Amino acid sequence: KTHKVTLVPGDGIGPEVTTAVVKIVEAAGAATGAAFDWHTFDAGADAFAKTGEYIPKALYNSIEQNRVALKGPVTTPIGGGFASINVTLRKKFDLFANFRPIKNLPGLKTNYPGVDLIIFRENTEDLYAGLEVMVVPGVAQSLKIITEKGSTRIAKAAFDYAKKHGRKKIHSIHKANIMKLTDGLFLDCARKVATGFPEVEYKEHIVDNTCMQLVMNPYQYDILLTENLYGDILSDLCSAFVGGLGLVPGANLGAECAIFEAVHGSAPDIAGKDLANPTALLQSAVLMLHHLDEPATAERIQAGIEAVYAEGKTLTKDVGGTSGTKAFADAVIAAMESA
Ligand code: NAI
Ligand code: MG
Repeated sequence: KTHKVTLVPGDGIGPEVTTAVVKIVEAAGAATGAAFDWHTFDAGADAFAKTGEYIPKALYNSIEQNRVALKGPVTTPIGGGFASINVTLRKKFDLFANFRPIKNLPGLKTNYPGVDLIIFRENTEDLYAGLEVMVVPGVAQSLKIITEKGSTRIAKAAFDYAKKHGRKKIHSIHKANIMKLTDGLFLDCARKVATGFPEVEYKEHIVDNTCMQLVMNPYQYDILLTENLYGDILSDLCSAFVGGLGLVPGANLGAECAIFEAVHGSAPDIAGKDLANPTALLQSAVLMLHHLDEPATAERIQAGIEAVYAEGKTLTKDVGGTSGTKAFADAVIAAMESA
């Protein structure tokens, strides 16, 4: 079967990791009978230079038609410039659930072996609604928007997932002691949803304590259910359990479309040097392949990744190796082919 997939290489390390991932996905698909028709688009500063738009209309149309996209990171300027491409795409396609599995790869040694937790991050509301004004010079204001609809549907997504995949526990992460109305509403909605899932244990932890608890003992957690900002921060923290940002994949899921992308950003500090670890985007592609109902292709790639990490000879610098992005990708392909 041929799948039409919208591809956004992004900038910084984006083009390097997407090139590596497309090559691996093509190689896996060739062996399992899955073919891909990639529709490639720029977004961000590069797109603006070429088309006068940060997110070209053709990209929107493509995602609308294909309903699935694989996306590299895009640099978001601080201060002026343009709004985050990610936030804009997530809102435009109502991709309300950001799913981020944090799981150690067998073979890669970290300080926290055997971590297996999932972050369900609400993806369209909270302080990321971008409703900011300079009230008067010297006073800036940002509106935190939390709705019953938004909170209920992310809670529902987390509990549905837990039930379907036999997960035992969900913690709502909050600061309702201070933000009584917004985080209070988020908790109320989660509690209501929780009553429909007696098989899943439901707990609540305050976000600052959660940071300490995670570093002391991440094994106490199974699924973290969060608002947008806390989920963003906790994702990067949790990535350290499994080897850092080069490893953690993600999926932005809505009712109509899904955009698969790594947790990490454009990593300007290592861009263009063949240093980036493509594993995070590659594991995002594995999530995409499951979404496209291509489990054989997904499993072939995952097995290839695990073989390369288990062997430990062709790893990128961020995980203690000396190999480049391209060599890592070729090692994954070789591992898939010799399996
Ligand atoms: P970052 O995630 O790009 O980098 C943080 C650190 O992790 C850097 O030291 C970087 O070298 C390292 N790192 C990240 N990904 C890696 C990989 N695949 N392999 C090896 N090392 C990796 O975060 P930073 O520097 O705060 O943000 C850079 C830009 O990316 C900003 O403009 C930000 O807005 C944007 N960004 C975009 C995202 C997206 O498009 N989804 C997500 C997060 C940030
Ligand atoms: Mg982030």
